[in-house]
This record gives sequence, C-alpha cells and structure tokens, in this order.
Amino acid sequence: MIYLDNSATTRLDEDVLEAMLPWLRDGYGNASSIYDLGRRARVAVESARSTIAAALNAHPAEIIFTSGGTESNNAILKSVLHESSLARRLAVGATEHHAVLHPAEAERVAGTAVDIMGVDHDGLVDLTALEQHNRADTLVSLMHANNETGIIQPLVEVRKRVPLALLHSDAVQSFGKIPIDVQGLGVDFLSLSAHKIHGPKGVGAMFIRKGVDFKSHQQGGGQERNRRAGTEPVALIVGFAAAAKKAMSELDIRSNHMLELVRHARQMLQSDIPDVRINTPETGSLPNILNVSFLDADRLDGEAIIQSMDIAGVAVSNGSACVSGSQQPSHVLLAMGRSSAESHAAVRISVSIHSTRQEIERACTILSSVVRNLRGQTHN
Ligand SMILES: Cc1ncc(COP(=O)(O)O)c(C=O)c1O
Repeated sequence: MIYLDNSATTRLDEDVLEAMLPWLRDGYGNASSIYDLGRRARVAVESARSTIAAALNAHPAEIIFTSGGTESNNAILKSVLHESSLARRLAVGATEHHAVLHPAEAERVAGTAVDIMGVDHDGLVDLTALEQHNRADTLVSLMHANNETGIIQPLVEVRKRVPLALLHSDAVQSFGKIPIDVQGLGVDFLSLSAHKIHGPKGVGAMFIRKGVDFKSHQQGGGQERNRRAGTEPVALIVGFAAAAKKAMSELDIRSNHMLELVRHARQMLQSDIPDVRINTPETGSLPNILNVSFLDADRLDGEAIIQSMDIAGVAVSNGSACVSGSQQPSHVLLAMGRSSAESHAAVRISVSIHSTRQEIERACTILSSVVRNLRGQTHN
C-alpha cells in the first residue's frame, strides 16, 4: 500500500515506540503517587512537558497534556467562555477543523455571540474584517495551518489586528512541520496532537499563556495544575515528547524531503490531468499537503476517486478524516468559493518523511488514470 494520508494520521515511529514501552510495562505508576514508582512517572511527565515547551519556545508550566487536538480545542473554547469567563464572544475561521466548528456551533445554539470569519479564494482570513473582533471580551480562534489544504494563516498579522482579543490557534497540523514560536506568534492558546507527527494516538496538549486565568470545564482530580483532570497517560505523554523531539531535530530534513515530493506531485498532476485545480499554494502552505480538485467536478464522483485509488493500493483522502465517507462536500473548499461539486471531488495527498519519490510517481500516475477513466465513463 502507498500511504499518502499523513494529515489524517501517521505511522508510529520505532524510536517513539521504544521510548514508550518501559512505561507500558514496568513504569505503570500513577504520576500523582508519592512513592518511588509514582515519582519516576512524574519525572517522565515533567521531562516530556519541558520537551514540548522547548519546541514551542514556551515555559513548561504553560503546557497541559490532553487526549489530543479535539479535546484541546473543546477545552479551550468552553473553559474560556464559561468556566473562566475570560470572554463572552467567539470568532472562528470558516475553514477550521470540525473540532473547533462544532463546539462553536454548540456555543451559538446556547446563546453565545459567535461569528464565523470567511476566507478569500486563497483560503486566507480577511484581515480587515478581523479588526471588528478586536475586543477584550472576544476569543478569536484561527487555525495555524489547514488540514485539507495546508494553507497557513498569517498569525503574526492576525495578532496585530486583534491585540485586545484572546487568540487561540489550532496548530495540530503545523506542529512538527514548520517552526512555531508562541512568543513570536503572540497566541494565548494553542492546540497540539501527537499522532500527526509519528507519535501515539490519544495524546496532545494545550499551550496556555502564563498569566491567563484559565479554569477548566473538566472537573475531577487536581492533575495538570487543575487544568485537566484525569490520570496522566505516562506512556502516551513520553511518546508524544519523543515524537516532538525527533520532529524538531529533523525539521529541516523532513520539510525539504516532503516539499520536494509535493512539488513533484504538483508538476505531475498539472501536466497529466486536464482541468485540474491545485488548491494548495506553492508558498504559505505546509510542506506535506497537496490538495487538488477538478474544474469539471460535476462529471466526477469524489468518493469514486478515493475508492478507485484504494483499489489500486493508494491511500489518499478527500480532506478531513472525519468527513470521509459522509459524502459531504469539503466545508474548507466551499468557504474558499469552490462549487459544491468541486468541493466534493477534491483529493488530498499528504506525505511524510517515509514517503518516496517512487510512491509519489505511482500515486500520481494512478490518479491521472482514475480521473481519465471516470471522465470517460460519464462520456459513454
Ligand atoms: C486541524 C486539526 N485539528 C484538530 C484535529 C483533531 O485532533 P485529534 O485527532 O488529536 O483529536 C485534527 C485531526 O485531524 C486536525 O487536523
């Protein structure tokens, strides 16, 4: 199988697995216990916290472990709006992941003032329109990089336009792919996940800027400085840190490798498939994602493309894993002004450090022939 769906999830790195195993076997202590077994688990968790903090240029006390990106997003939105009363208005980007859009919708139904900020044809938020959200009672949530297109939002510029607002960014896709400096970006909150960077599933983190009076909506034990109740999953946290450490130390090597593959795919698809539209810009996007759609999409069935690719042994996606199979057009491409048919027939290729040039060439050749066949079928 040729696996080109690394934005959905990634293969667990062998070194990460090795780092986790001792904590699954003998190091099973509860990190809150005061005897030796617990204390050793605590040391491992705190060391992992320092690793994640260093990767973001944050302070360890600003890192809170969670079960992943979805929990981080939900916890930040709900805690800021309700438990902490830090904000009473919410503004979110139209191309956010459903792990932001759905809690935002629930907030709107519950009576919170929620604004969905549109994007332009290139997927970028309208910076001038953003200025109306420059209020101290507003939480602005804008993802760092999009999971379907790889498009990077200009967070430094965003922060300049809303200096008074609280700023959250879902950095699940960008973490480990491009440098992130929370000081430089000026964000108050960040969401991270381990399984997009060859770490384990079921663990992630929130960055919460020092000085923000964050009160958790999740109640229970006093773990994670009272900000995320629940026994820390030591092995997963250790695995997350090992994956992050490796991603940071190999950032340039991985980025160059992935970028070269994505460039090659871009060229191949542009020259081999007529009426193809590349939705991922060459600059201002992640190194690992290429999203393509088809101008004659009304003649193509999006699900059929993915299924034909699967039969030919290539795993690609039509965007968010959560949308796959639900037959819904991509809300991201719709927000970028693409037609419903085009938004439905999109294909996302997402590579990793393990992807090869041969795999890309084979996948692009297969995609070209799948599209040609499907177009031919509608002709007959
Ligand atoms: C941008 C973005 N946010 C959030 C998530 C959810 O993260 P997790 O799977 O860790 O809950 C994903 C996963 O697809 C994502 O791509």
